[in-house]
Amino acid sequence: MIIGVPKEVKNNENRVSAVPGIVQELVADGHTVYVEKGAGLGSGINDSEYAEAGAIILDTAAEVWEKAELIYKVKEPLESEYKYFKEGQLIYTYLHLAAEPHLTKALVDKKVTGIAFETVRVGRGLPLLRPMSEVAGRMAVQEGVRFLTKPHGGKGLLIQGVPGVKVGKVVIVGAGIAGTAAASAAVGLGANVTLLDVNIDRLTELSNQFGRDIETLYSTKLNIANSVKDADLVISTVLIPGAKAPKLITKEMVASMEDGSVIVDVAIDQGGSTEHTEGRPTTHDEPIFVEDGVLHYSVANIPGAVPITSSYALCNATSRYIKIIANLGLEKAIERFPELEGGVNTHAGAVTYKAVAEDLGFDYVALKDIL
Ligand SMILES: NC(=O)c1ccc[n+]([C@@H]2O[C@H](COP(=O)([O-])OP(=O)(O)OC[C@H]3O[C@@H](n4cnc5c(N)ncnc54)[C@H](O)[C@@H]3O)[C@@H](O)[C@H]2O)c1
Repeated sequence: MIIGVPKEVKNNENRVSAVPGIVQELVADGHTVYVEKGAGLGSGINDSEYAEAGAIILDTAAEVWEKAELIYKVKEPLESEYKYFKEGQLIYTYLHLAAEPHLTKALVDKKVTGIAFETVRVGRGLPLLRPMSEVAGRMAVQEGVRFLTKPHGGKGLLIQGVPGVKVGKVVIVGAGIAGTAAASAAVGLGANVTLLDVNIDRLTELSNQFGRDIETLYSTKLNIANSVKDADLVISTVLIPGAKAPKLITKEMVASMEDGSVIVDVAIDQGGSTEHTEGRPTTHDEPIFVEDGVLHYSVANIPGAVPITSSYALCNATSRYIKIIANLGLEKAIERFPELEGGVNTHAGAVTYKAVAEDLGFDYVALKDIL
């Protein structure tokens, strides 16, 4: 198969989908891999390393998109990239379509097969979302404590305190992969940590894991409101796979918080989980907006800030399926690895992921009826 690795174009997105070790394996399997010039530079990988691994370096994104049957990316294509779509092309990347009506329409109109990392499910897990959630959860604490400092517009609090002074309070809504990574980082700092989720089994596991270092609460509107009120840092990581994030943190709750507190909405890539962040993703250049005196951080590509870690972590997870799709073709790949079916969000001019179709008002067509 002909595989294309374009350079990412999102603001401060320095990750790259394929690292040289994987390019080498794809080439050894008989595939052709085109890499856009400079695609790996942000992650510390030179063109010459790709060339040594057997890739062909092309000067422009247009050439990579034009030649490739299978595009291997990191972030959802931006509007400037829609013009490259061609009928029958496969795009394997994060898509987050529930928050992207225009992209969904472009994929459908151009009859592109969109295979989303974030909806490939194995059992109850999302293995291609996991590595970036691990990064984003840790970064949410790192970024949150940065913006709690006065020079960055926060209330001026050292979250871990010092002897004789109370520590700060971190509230984490959603105790999945990102939530647990955030909890671990916040506990490591010595903060006072509360975790809320609707999954009791998960809360039990975390309660056993962290003991008295955290408080767990069942996630109801009342429990969220009471916890958020005196929180210094709120981190939301809720997810209903593929669907728009529920708006759990209301404007009223934000108004009850102290000025200079910080909310990090990790779930922004699924549309945002607070009323203020809905439809307001921010960028690494301008990560914050302020509402009701509270700083809102809603960067949709948090791991893009630490590409040396993120590119390798992401490629470790996603490369398994790029090899499978390239070696078998999509239809056989799905027959042998049925979890891939859940990744296919659009195909042959239809939306094939139910939650996306429902959220965006498209007709849902089951993939098995058109593949
Ligand atoms: N902004 C970024 O750069 C970035 C990076 C990585 C991941 N993410 C996003 O972070 C989110 C979380 O990812 P994850 O891998 O941790 O998912 P996950 O499935 O592991 O965890 C989500 C958790 O939310 C819980 N949840 C669902 N409804 C809830 C409710 N009403 N109240 C409380 N909890 C609820 C689930 O039970 C689950 O434990 C996703 O939207 C993902 O796309 C964003």
